[in-house]
Order: sequence, then C-alpha cells, then structure tokens
Amino acid sequence: MGPGARRLLAVLLVVCAPARLRAGEPGDGCGHIVTYQDSGTMTSKNYPGTYPNHTVCEKTLRVPKGKTLILRLGDLDIESQTCASDYLLFTSNSDQYGPYCGSMAVPKELLLNTNEVTVRFASGSHISGRGFLLTYASSDHPDLITCLERANHYLKTEYSKFCPAGCRDIAGDISGNLVDGYRDTSLLCKAAIHAGIIADELGGQISVLQRKGISRYEGILANGVLSRDGSLSDKRFLFTSNGCSRSLSLEPDTQIRASWQWVSEMGEQIHWSPDQAQLQDQDLSWAAGDGKNRKQREWLETDLGEKKKITGIMTTGSTQSNFNFYVKSFVMKFKNNNSKWRSYKGIANNKEKVFQGNSNFRDPVRNNFIPPIVARYIRVVPQTWHQRIALNVELFGCQITQGNDSLVLNKTSPNTVGSSEREDETITKSIPSAEIPTGINVTAVALPLVLFGLLVAGMGIFAALRKKKKKGNPYGSAKAQKTDCWKQIKYPFARHQSAEFTISYDHEKEMTQKLDLITSDMAG
Ligand SMILES: *[C@@H]1O[C@H](CO)[C@@H](O)[C@H](O)[C@H]1NC(C)=O
Ligand SMILES: *[C@@H]1O[C@H](CO)[C@@H](O)[C@H](O)[C@H]1NC(C)=O
Ligand SMILES: *[C@@H]1O[C@H](CO)[C@@H](O)[C@H](O)[C@H]1NC(C)=O
Ligand SMILES: *[C@@H]1O[C@H](CO)[C@@H](O)[C@H](O)[C@H]1NC(C)=O
Repeated sequence: MGPGARRLLAVLLVVCAPARLRAGEPGDGCGHIVTYQDSGTMTSKNYPGTYPNHTVCEKTLRVPKGKTLILRLGDLDIESQTCASDYLLFTSNSDQYGPYCGSMAVPKELLLNTNEVTVRFASGSHISGRGFLLTYASSDHPDLITCLERANHYLKTEYSKFCPAGCRDIAGDISGNLVDGYRDTSLLCKAAIHAGIIADELGGQISVLQRKGISRYEGILANGVLSRDGSLSDKRFLFTSNGCSRSLSLEPDTQIRASWQWVSEMGEQIHWSPDQAQLQDQDLSWAAGDGKNRKQREWLETDLGEKKKITGIMTTGSTQSNFNFYVKSFVMKFKNNNSKWRSYKGIANNKEKVFQGNSNFRDPVRNNFIPPIVARYIRVVPQTWHQRIALNVELFGCQITQGNDSLVLNKTSPNTVGSSEREDETITKSIPSAEIPTGINVTAVALPLVLFGLLVAGMGIFAALRKKKKKGNPYGSAKAQKTDCWKQIKYPFARHQSAEFTISYDHEKEMTQKLDLITSDMAG
C-alpha cells in the first residue's frame, strides 16, 4: 500500500468511525440491570450521572406467561425536546409507549396487557441528563414501587409495598438500622435489603410501620448496604417481620469450635480460642493463622444443639485496636447430624454465596440468609481477611417448631431452596402467624370488590385506558387517582392470589408455588 492509499484509508476511517459510533451498539447505553422471575430494575449507563453520547440500550423485559407487566418509571431526565436521537421507548407486541424525552409529561406507571416489553433508550450528542431508572413487576404486584421511593413519600402509619429485585446498588442514602428503625428520608427498598427483609436479587413484599422519629440514627453495614448515622427526624420507619431473629448464640446448648487457634506471644501467651468468639463478650475474639502455612480453609463452627432456623449472622474482627485483624469475606457451610457439609447458595444464580464481612477490626456487620438456613451445625469459612483471621459471631434465628408457625414442604424447584441440596428434600418455612388474620381480612374485603370490579370493568375502564394512551399521557398526575383505582379493582381479579400478597414472607418470589403447596397440603 502506497502512502497515498494509506492516507486515503485513514481519511475513510475518520469519516466512517463517527458514523459507526453514532449508531451505538445495542447495550452500551445500559447501566444497572437486575432481573429475576417477575420483577427487576433497569437504568441507563452512569445513572444518576450523565448518560454517555451516542449509545443505545435495548432490553426485553419479561414476566411469566399468563401474567402482565407493570412498569414504573422512577426517574426520567433526557436532554431533548424532539426525542429525535435521545429518547426512551417501550414496545410490546400490541402497543408502543413513547418516545419520551425532555420536559414532556411522562406516565409514572404503565400497565401493559402483555408479559413482554422491549425497552429502548438512545442517546445522541448532549450535555446533561441522568437518563432513566425504571422498575417492573408482574401483575401479581400492583403495589410495586421503584428503588427511589423514600418513606417520607407516604403518609400512612402502616402500609405494604412490593420492592423489585435490584435496588441495593442504586445511589441514595439510608440511615438507621433494623432494631431502632430508619430515618424517614431513607430509601425504602434499600433499607429493606439492609434490614434483611428482602434479598436484593429477589425483591419482595415489605410491610412498613411509621413511627415518631428519634434523635439519632446509628448506621451499620448490613447485607452489603451501608447505612449512615443520621440526625433527628420527625418520623422514622420500621419493618414488620416474622420475628425469627432471636440471638441463638447465647442459648445453653450452643457450642463453638474452630479449625485452629492462634496463640500470640507478646510478653504473655494469649489464646485466641473459639470460646471467645461470642460477639456479646467484649474481650478477645477467636483468631486463626495468617493462612500462609496451612493448606486447609480455617473455619469457626457453631453447634446449636439441635436443628434450628438461622436467619442472620453478625460478625466483628478482633475488636482489639492493637490487633488489627478482621475477615473481609466469608462463605457459610451447614449440616445436620449425619449429613455432609453443604454451602449456602444464592437463589438467583445457585452459586456459593460470598458474604461481605468486616472492613475494620471493630464495627459489627450483619448478613441475613434469605431463605433461612435450617441446620444444627453452621460454619463461617473466611475467604479473605486483613492480616489474620479473627472473628466474633452472633447467630440469629428461632426454633423450627416454635409455636405453630412452621410447615414442612416438599422442595418444589431448584430456585426455591438456596440453602438446601438433594439430600435434604424438605425445607421449613414459617408463616408469620401474626399476619394471617390480616390475610383473612383482606380476602373478606376482596370478595365484594370482585363484584364491584366486574361491574366497573364492564363499564369500559379498558376503553378509557386505551383512549388515554392514544393521547400520549395516560397517567398524568391528575389521573393518578384513576390508576390507583384501577389497581385496586384489578387486585381481586388475580386468580385468588390476594391472600398471597398479604402474608408477607421475607421472599415473596417463592410464594406462589409454596402457597399453592400449603393450600393443597391443608386441603389434603
Ligand atoms: C457529548 O459531546 C459533546 C460534543 O462533543 C460534548 O460537548 C459533551 O460534553 C458530550 N457529552 C457527554 C455526556 O459526554
Ligand atoms: C441429632 O443428635 C441429637 C443428639 O446428638 C439428637 O438429640 C437429635 O434428635 C438428633 N437429630 C436428628 C434429626 O437425628
Ligand atoms: C397447632 O395447630 C393445630 C391445628 O392447626 C392445633 O391442633 C394445635 O393445638 C396447635 N398447636 C399449638 C402448640 O398451638
Ligand atoms: C412430598 O411429596 C410426596 C410425593 O409427591 C408425598 O408422598 C409426601 O407426602 C410429600 N411430603 C410432604 C411432607 O408433603
């Protein structure tokens, strides 16, 4: 190739490159995306920072066949008045919504009549704009919220909402903790993940109680979410849970063992024995080697004396400032009397779950198990640590046979039992007994509503909705009321599932199959 030809080629490349860039690659404009069976979260790239120039993000969202989709836009900020090159567009097989951009009025919620929608976000050349954040769920969850809702959006003292999968890594603060409650300015779904009420990869139903605020909120790292210290607020909120969160570590039958113990010799010998691994004691912790001379993984084992339901673990490092040791990440193993050790796995990907541990020798960090581990023996197996393995632990949970709250179910499908493998064909699930009356109440209310709903549906609400959609602004703020109304009357239609919403499990995802089972078990 002569120099002339080379120059020509270079010119061609210069001319072509921007053209190719301008088209954008499908996917390069996508940001955070988490999807699970019937809910999820999706943002544009860099959200809530400025989305890049010349990108496209196209993704098809799906919920199971037979259900329909609910989309909620938490935020839309696209710099364009014409929607020519920067826009957000939804396409289902029967309808198109958008394109949306600029300052146009955009529906906060879209109720589709299909189970599939293609989301397309495109950007041209622009200076500012956060892009978008949306969540979706199946029609089973008409009370879906986005990851951006804060408790102070709601006035009621008690309410229940559905959080989609994927809210953990969305920017936004929370302050407070599980026990004292959260400052009302905190993001609801992120706080629920922090509290261990729902798992990030699953989403789920949350039940919230609004209370008078307190003068100070104490932050803690839990389930990979850092809550911050917070100052006095007028209101705070708490989550109602099934109450299986008693400390198991101080029960008389509990014993702790370890693979190895370190003896430090600085002046005097100090035995860092597993007896000292009780988080409640303020003295030393357990400590093991620095991992250099031993091939095996170290572990710290708790024998609970009998099979129990374990819903969480709190850990600290050495707690001694002159011994800056702590475990940065760990996995959990568990077993019963005569079974093999098994690893705790994530539900969404069925891989051994690695928990985020401590980030200093002092502060406690909590992790929750959703679904719970049901076992007698449980091991913390450190994966990474700072200088040396040192641990204090406290386990939380309850008896399996506590009260009348437990049912043994057959395993239904692989993704319903993160904690259990082949050899253990049953898992134990608790129904929060306090919440069953609520379920009955709502079902009772729902029945007359069915009649009302049928009536209203007959009067052509569907037609009304269609008309609104054609106008391009189906659910403006003035129409929000209508949307709520639609949702409420739609609720009892969902084939006798209303009872399912009201029994709030820590992981709603598994509910459908499980409750069907419970119901049939009870009937049978
Ligand atoms: C997009 O390109 C323009 C012009 O090159 C530039 O001024 C602008 O900062 C870019 N925007 C972003 C978000 O990178
Ligand atoms: C496990 O062993 C303990 C005593 O070691 C016994 O009390 C308990 O019943 C056993 N559990 C099972 C499920 O076999
Ligand atoms: C548990 O429930 C069953 C029937 O549902 C009842 O017969 C039994 O007395 C209850 N047991 C306790 C300890 O409440
Ligand atoms: C589990 O399923 C099998 C067969 O489907 C049935 O025979 C058994 O009774 C079930 N066990 C429980 C605890 O429901």
